[in-house]
Amino acid sequence: MYQFLTFEVAERIAVITVNRPDKLNALNDATIAELGRAIDEANAREDVAGVLLTGAGRSFIAGADISELESQSPLEAQRRARVGQAIFRRFETSPKPTVAAINGFALGGGCELAMACHVRLASEKAKLGQPEVKLGIVPGYGGTQRLPRLVGRGAALKLLLTGDMIDAAEAFRLGLVDQVVAPETLMDTARALLGAMVANAPLALAGCIEAVNRGQDVPLEEGCTIESDFFGLLSATADMKEGMRAFLEKRAPTFTGR
Ligand code: COA
Repeated sequence: MYQFLTFEVAERIAVITVNRPDKLNALNDATIAELGRAIDEANAREDVAGVLLTGAGRSFIAGADISELESQSPLEAQRRARVGQAIFRRFETSPKPTVAAINGFALGGGCELAMACHVRLASEKAKLGQPEVKLGIVPGYGGTQRLPRLVGRGAALKLLLTGDMIDAAEAFRLGLVDQVVAPETLMDTARALLGAMVANAPLALAGCIEAVNRGQDVPLEEGCTIESDFFGLLSATADMKEGMRAFLEKRAPTFTGR
């Protein structure tokens, strides 16, 4: 059971909603731990094929809970960052697609968790940023690493060093979010996107995610080797045979994840 989030499954999609709206869904340690349990539950459950992450109320996640950070010692802070980083990494390495539906503020840890998801959709009302420097700290949940990988070094440093919030249109222009939609259509668009993903062969989805994750920071040649290994491995699956047979027989495939 969860105290600070809700976890609902419908049509093979787990919707994880961070639910501390009175604190704009700020991430206290307990919420971070629950997010770790939630992504593990989604990955363990056979009735879940994809994960949609969002926030309750007017915010996605307004960052780490500053009331907890205020009194941290250096070693506590380092540990907090490492625990959070490891949990966010579980969203990034999830074999099932993770989509962030950014309904409002995605600041600090909120922006960082969205960046750890595979795809980001934003409402026109979303505001994103890494305001840590305004508090005298640096991002601790991967922001200095994922932001330049997503938007390039100059744009990342501009955001990190000003601490400025940007709107959804600017985030889209930078490549920080992948699509911007009207607020009232955000969840339906995210469900439809995940629905299109999870209609595909589960092992192929997992292979794409792992090849991108493992290939991103290695030389191209090594990345291509990772890819060809997956290309080979997937050819051992029943779903590969089913997908190709269905195409040739001009019918929809029925994938089993085997
Ligand atoms: N940590 C703890 N509490 C937070 C929080 C955070 N990161 N972000 C918002 N809250 C709390 C506020 O303290 C306030 O609580 P209160 O009603 O008990 O006083 C409540 O959420 C509502 O926030 P408020 O600031 O009143 O809303 P706003 O619309 O005026 O401003 C923000 C919204 C997001 C601009 C502002 O809350 C903010 O700057 N938050 C901090 C963002 C940040 O620095 N995140 C990085 C942390 S490392």
